[in-house]
Parts: sequence; C-alpha cells; structure tokens
Amino acid sequence: MDAKGDNKHQKRAVMSRMALVPYVESSLPALSKLHSSSAQFRFANRDLRLSQDWKKLGVAAVVWDAAIVMCMYLELRKVELKGKVAIELGAGTGLVGIVAALLGAKVTITDREPALDFLSANVKANLPPDSRGSVTVSELTWGESLELYPAGGFDLVLGADIVYLEDTFVPLLQTLEHLCSDTALLLLACKIRYERDTNFLSMLKQRFSVEEVYYDKQRDIHIYKAWKLPPRGDL
Ligand SMILES: C[S@@+](CC[C@H](N)C(=O)[O-])C[C@H]1O[C@@H](n2cnc3c(N)ncnc32)[C@H](O)[C@@H]1O
Repeated sequence: MDAKGDNKHQKRAVMSRMALVPYVESSLPALSKLHSSSAQFRFANRDLRLSQDWKKLGVAAVVWDAAIVMCMYLELRKVELKGKVAIELGAGTGLVGIVAALLGAKVTITDREPALDFLSANVKANLPPDSRGSVTVSELTWGESLELYPAGGFDLVLGADIVYLEDTFVPLLQTLEHLCSDTALLLLACKIRYERDTNFLSMLKQRFSVEEVYYDKQRDIHIYKAWKLPPRGDL
C-alpha cells in the first residue's frame, strides 16, 4: 500500500475503533441521554446510578439500550444466575455485570484497558460491600492474551451491544469460543444497525447454536441465546 492509501486505512481504522455512530452532540434528541453525566435504573431490587462520560471515553462510558434490555431479560429469571461463573465482554459502564452479580452470579467484568478505571468506579459505587467479592474487573481485548482466561472456564458469557465493529468480528468470535465451556450459555443483546452486523450472527451460527429469545420493540434490541455446537467430528 502506498503512503496515501496507508494513511487512509489508518484513519478508517481509528474511526471505526472510536465511533459507534458518528453524530453531533444534541443533533439527535433521542441520543441526548448519552450526554448525561449519569443514568439511573432499578434492577434486582436496587437503585443503580451509573456515571457516564461520553466526551472522555465515548462508547465505553455510556449505558446503551442493549444493556438495559439485557438487564430486563436477566430479571425475568429465565436464565439461572445463582452460583454461575459468568463473564461480561465489552462491559462499558458495567451495568449488565453489576445486575448479574446482584442476581447471584460470580462475574468477571471486562473491557479494553482505557475503560477500566471508569468501569471499576461504577462497579464499586453500585455493589453493596457484601456483593463486591463476587465481581472482578479486568482487561480483555477480544482476541488478545486469551490464555489469561481459562479456556471453557465460564458457565455464562454476556455481551450487550458488542457487535458493531466489523474489524472485531473474528477476534470476538475467537474470544467467545475460548471462554465458553461446552455447556456454557452465551447471551448477546444486539442492536442490528447495519447489514454487516448480521454477518457476525452468520459467523456465530457456524460455531454456536443460536436462538432469538427476546425482542424489545421500543428499543429495537434483540437478545440471542447461544450454545457451542459440538466439534464437527462429533456431529
Ligand atoms: C457500544 S459499547 C457497549 C457497552 C455496554 N456493554 C453497554 O451496552 O452499555 C461497546 C463496548 O465494547 C468495547 N469494545 C470495543 N471493541 C473492543 C475490543 N476489541 N475488545 C474489547 N472490548 C471492546 C468498548 O470499549 C465498549 O465498552
């Protein structure tokens, strides 16, 4: 690639890492809630207040609708959380992991390194002292240093609004395969914004059995449950 092309490629890569949907502040009233310094919810019989900082950390420091719908789904108790060993990927503010812990799971809440201080502060502020022992916050960039996490070491893998960057689809799938035990349940809350997002679901279906179990019409969020398919030789 020549220097000009290389430059263009780098620019595009940086944009795709940073922007979920590029928009100008306050140009879309529906998105103005992302600019509030906090967001409040009541889940698991507790009032939760999550700090937000769009300007400083962008997508990782606001609560996305997918996280809210995932928490609503967890509260329906269709999925057993008590005593489960869970991990949340791309946790952002950590709402989903916090609610999973409040509902009885032991949760590792993960995101990329730049998001971790903000995430840890939110987790600490929203968990009562007696629940803090059931949560660990740690770095997990999809596809990187996966050996730090036990292969097949989780009963439940959670992800809210983590399917949006095409560049990450392969490492994300690799991460899901690494973390899920043969009996693990994967729960993804997805906003399908672009055609390409469905490509990830097609990739997922090559390795997991996938079922849509919930749809929030108002927020346009789909919840998918998935289990690892047996290795091809066993089919
Ligand atoms: C749209 S936000 C969703 C945040 C949160 N789950 C929610 O729904 O409120 C996407 C999250 O994925 C994380 N993320 C993006 N690329 C990642 C990668 N390659 N590895 C790990 N996390 C990543 C971002 O830091 C961000 O926290």
